[in-house]
Amino acid sequence: MSTEDIKSGLIENRLFQPSAEFTAKARIKPDDLKALQKQADEDYEGFWAEQARKYMDWHKPFTQILDDSNAPHFKWFADGEMNVSYNCIDRHLASKADKTAIIFEGEPGDVHHISYQQLHDDVCQFANALKAKGVTKGDRVVIYMPMVPEAVIAMQACARIGAIHSVVFGGFSADSLRDRINDARAVMLITADGGNRGGKIVALKEAADKALDKGCDTIENVIVLKRSGQDVHMQEGRDSWWHDAVAGQNKSCTPEWMNSEHPLFLLYTSGSTGKPKGIQHASAGYLLNAIVTNLWVFDLQDDDIFWCTADVGWITGHTYVAYGPLAAGGTIIMFEGAPVIPDAGRFWKMVEQHKVTIFYTAPTAIRALMKYGDSFPNSYDLSSLRLLGTVGEPINPEAWMWYHTVIGKEICPIVDTWWQTETGANVLTPIPGVTATKPGSCTLPLPGMAVDIVNEDGESITEPNKGGYLVITKPWPSMARTIWGDDNRYVETYFPKFGGKYYLAGDSARRDEDGYFWIMGRIDDVLNVSGHRLGTMEIESALVAHEAVVEAAVVGRPHELKGEAVVAFVICHGDRPVGEAADKMVKELRNWVGEQIGAIAKPDDIRFADGLPKTRSGKIMRRLLRTIAAGEEITSDTSTLENPAVVAQLQGKA
Ligand code: WT7
Repeated sequence: MSTEDIKSGLIENRLFQPSAEFTAKARIKPDDLKALQKQADEDYEGFWAEQARKYMDWHKPFTQILDDSNAPHFKWFADGEMNVSYNCIDRHLASKADKTAIIFEGEPGDVHHISYQQLHDDVCQFANALKAKGVTKGDRVVIYMPMVPEAVIAMQACARIGAIHSVVFGGFSADSLRDRINDARAVMLITADGGNRGGKIVALKEAADKALDKGCDTIENVIVLKRSGQDVHMQEGRDSWWHDAVAGQNKSCTPEWMNSEHPLFLLYTSGSTGKPKGIQHASAGYLLNAIVTNLWVFDLQDDDIFWCTADVGWITGHTYVAYGPLAAGGTIIMFEGAPVIPDAGRFWKMVEQHKVTIFYTAPTAIRALMKYGDSFPNSYDLSSLRLLGTVGEPINPEAWMWYHTVIGKEICPIVDTWWQTETGANVLTPIPGVTATKPGSCTLPLPGMAVDIVNEDGESITEPNKGGYLVITKPWPSMARTIWGDDNRYVETYFPKFGGKYYLAGDSARRDEDGYFWIMGRIDDVLNVSGHRLGTMEIESALVAHEAVVEAAVVGRPHELKGEAVVAFVICHGDRPVGEAADKMVKELRNWVGEQIGAIAKPDDIRFADGLPKTRSGKIMRRLLRTIAAGEEITSDTSTLENPAVVAQLQGKA
């Protein structure tokens, strides 16, 4: 794709200033931000070193800051030693042992508060249970859990002993789980009997059994949390209950002192090929950006109740649930369920009940809840809220205004945070007490983040509102270190251009007259469905794995609630299915994709034809497919197609 293809959308010019009250109490005031920026500009490494010393506890202080001798593989604080779990829990015990770390609410309504002391004891006991089962430093542990405190306890316990966790979102299918276990060569799986989600029980252990039955030879032990209470199969010698595994274990467990660069976790994310990438993060650098963004962007203070609604299966649930807020000594909310159970007031009821002060969610959730009208939020007391955030996709100005007026009562700043699994933490975002916001813009880079928009030749685009590639021009502490087991892919995906100098985010963006960044979309074949990245090739591979399918092409179509919807064009063996046969096949293929990847990847629309539109050289014309999927008029010349007749079929006109 060339940058000329990148069209700029609507220009939005409303400006919202933070209130004087907010700014007066904020951690970062305009002068503080200026000072941070100045320091980062003048002494980039010194800036990060100072933050690392100020906000983290080191077992062995570092003397090296950035090691760029092996670019694009960067190391941060490489000779230092620390432990992430110690930084999240132990160091708060002297002053905050009784402070609530986690407020948990289950979908059925059960509420449970966990203090820092209790969290410490639970994490230590579980860490000892892991050790008792032979898990050691560097081993991979897959976590496939509902959104319950034990998921965070399991992550923290891994961090405590230096095991590398990989959380697999509970909505992924058995097949996806199996692929991730095998790619990571994990020795242990931690799961639950089931979780409560959307008024139903998600049978996690059943899916895990299915995955393990299909060959996950590396798994030696499975630990199963009893949550939903339904019957599950427990395999003798391999499976044990969580409560049995921790019974009798010591409530203290000395943290393993880890080198800064020791891998903290892997997290699989979609790319433009069929195979998900195991993004590998390091320990110290990751935690540093997690901490500073919780403090600077979310203004996390001692009496705050921070609710980030993301599942721990995504990076947002790592940085703004499981690690960052705890390392900053905060109180977090964890909610197991869906936002519309029992009704669309659930989030707002919980805000009232738990006196949530900071609320962070995805535009897709805001749009979905906005659809139910104002009466739900208006029935609850939302006056505890002081700051709102969004993440995952560009927020449309209409949803922004609703969030601002109906939820934020026009007094809460909104931080629209742009970042990625690979960046580890927020990159482009307002500072809530300082930055004037514009609906739909993620505004400006954080101090210490060198972000630019460049053209095909890697030259900075200074002209306002001209689109280009979003790049990060200097390494930063929480950047991904590699792709697990596929370092070449890491280099080729993120440093393919511009002499390997710049990190290529894969998004296109423009800057307006004020220098504000506006994200315009992905430049690769990755869809953003409800704030989740889905590789089109991943879905295509799943479709062609079905015995009835010969060929498939998947594209996105703008969708009012989900941002993008998945549209699949499918060629079947034999006659093209029509009428009832087509309906049946659509159902079959949707379920099939659900089984292969997970429900989020099920195509919204499946169309059959005798062939895909191809150029005479055999290239699938994806741009034409996108036009067809969107139901737009075809303006490009289709006469050069090898098979022009299929266009009418794909449009549903023949
Ligand atoms: C991609 C990263 C970062 C956690 C959630 C998703 C898109 C993310 C924004 C935003 C516009 C955004 C980008 C990015 N994205 N935040 N505030 N405005 N787009 O993590 O799955 O790694 O996806 O999500 O396209 O590259 P992810």
